[in-house]
Amino acid sequence: MAVLNILREVLEKITPSTSERLKISHIINEVRQRILEKAHEYSINVEVSIEGSIAKDTWLSDDKDIDVFIHLPKELGKESLKTVGLELCKSACKNWIEAYAEHPYIQANINGFKVDIVPVFKINSVDEAETAVARTPFHTQFINSRFNNIMREEVRILKQFMKGTGVYGAEIKIKGFSGYLCELLIYKYKSFMNLLKSTSKWKPYHVVIDPVGHYSNLNEVKKIFMDPLIVIDPVDKKRNVAAALSIDKMAKFIVASRAFRENPSLKFFFPTISKITKNEMIRMRRKGFKALFIILKCPKLVPDILWGEIFKSLEGLSTLLEKYDFKVLSKDAWSDEKSIVVLAFQLESIEIPKIKKHAGPLISLCESEKSFLRKNILNKNVVSGPCIEGDRWIVYKLRSITRADDLIRSKFIEAKHGPHIKTQNFEVMTGEEILDKINTDDFRIFLKKFMNKRESWI
Ligand code: CTP
Ligand code: MG
Repeated sequence: MAVLNILREVLEKITPSTSERLKISHIINEVRQRILEKAHEYSINVEVSIEGSIAKDTWLSDDKDIDVFIHLPKELGKESLKTVGLELCKSACKNWIEAYAEHPYIQANINGFKVDIVPVFKINSVDEAETAVARTPFHTQFINSRFNNIMREEVRILKQFMKGTGVYGAEIKIKGFSGYLCELLIYKYKSFMNLLKSTSKWKPYHVVIDPVGHYSNLNEVKKIFMDPLIVIDPVDKKRNVAAALSIDKMAKFIVASRAFRENPSLKFFFPTISKITKNEMIRMRRKGFKALFIILKCPKLVPDILWGEIFKSLEGLSTLLEKYDFKVLSKDAWSDEKSIVVLAFQLESIEIPKIKKHAGPLISLCESEKSFLRKNILNKNVVSGPCIEGDRWIVYKLRSITRADDLIRSKFIEAKHGPHIKTQNFEVMTGEEILDKINTDDFRIFLKKFMNKRESWI
């Protein structure tokens, strides 16, 4: 299929329909009105603005995310964001939860749409911004003053390409490209295909993009930010818009760009999503795939904090496994962000040999030799030795733990953890029986990716 036809087909699928737009403007009007009424009750003069991709008209069809900002007079003082600011947010809806970034805000569900309602101060320039989120209205202004509808289409295509290849979203769970970053890349490169031409040659730590030319020497910029990709925020030269991007996700995007240019297909935008079955898990186990799963109750935390803790525990447990000689080939985590967290490891073996060769001191170190012999001569775990091999003392010892699942059961809390993960009850499993415990589509999609690993577009 020719590239142009592919892109046209993608656009047809992802451009919001008139009825979707109507639904959203209906919700927005209602939210705005309720907030203004409440503010009137409190006799506070506020402004309500719509931000994010809805305001910039770069959102994707069936993306149900609306960002609403309430601008309060700065004179009310910092505390007001948490008190009256938050009250105004809550007045806009019935079902809400309080979320927290640098200060609290409200996440509401209105007719199936996820509406973030954020209190901020009215400011006239980014220099007055005291939080990251306060820059958002300036992003909206920047994009809207420079984008035409063709550029908006190009952004939509880029976002869908990134979704399809698994690199979209700056949240901790993904560490990929944010929506605003997509917009800036299109601003710089004008079109999706022109961008890919460039990105297919990108090298992590060597790309600096300064869309409006804040800096005269881009090599200097590399020394300031030191991230895999640097994109200077047009509205704030001190910020790298790509700061959250991991090297993995940047590399994935580079390779996918190259592959798409060579062999364009709809697969990049709409990959086939498959779920693992029990039989496939059994086949993988027989091929030698050794899986270890730790299933925990999910602590009640906002997603970015939760995923930060999950990754910390994943890393900590991996270090614990390696410390006890279990080789970790790969690891990943899944959570429904409500009730369950699963930490998944692929090990070289679940069970390792009973005997371990342990190297002692060099024979030239007399003091260490004495203490080594004292420790090992009467040790009931020493099977053979002490003996000399080359210029060292050696013993052959029994391992205290030879199964990875036993290790986790007995030493779980010795690992470095996210604090709320550390205290959860957990269960350990090593095979397909996990599907008897968790059988949701989302989990089975995760497991398929974890075991199959192949990039979806190959
Ligand atoms: N934002 C940002 N950096 C991030 C996340 C968000 O600067 N890492 C700001 C941007 O100004 C963005 C706004 O917050 O436009 C809203 O964030 P979000 O909803 O995540 O992005 P959208 O641009 O709305 O894109 P999407 O289509 O994914 O909702
Ligand atoms: Mg948004």
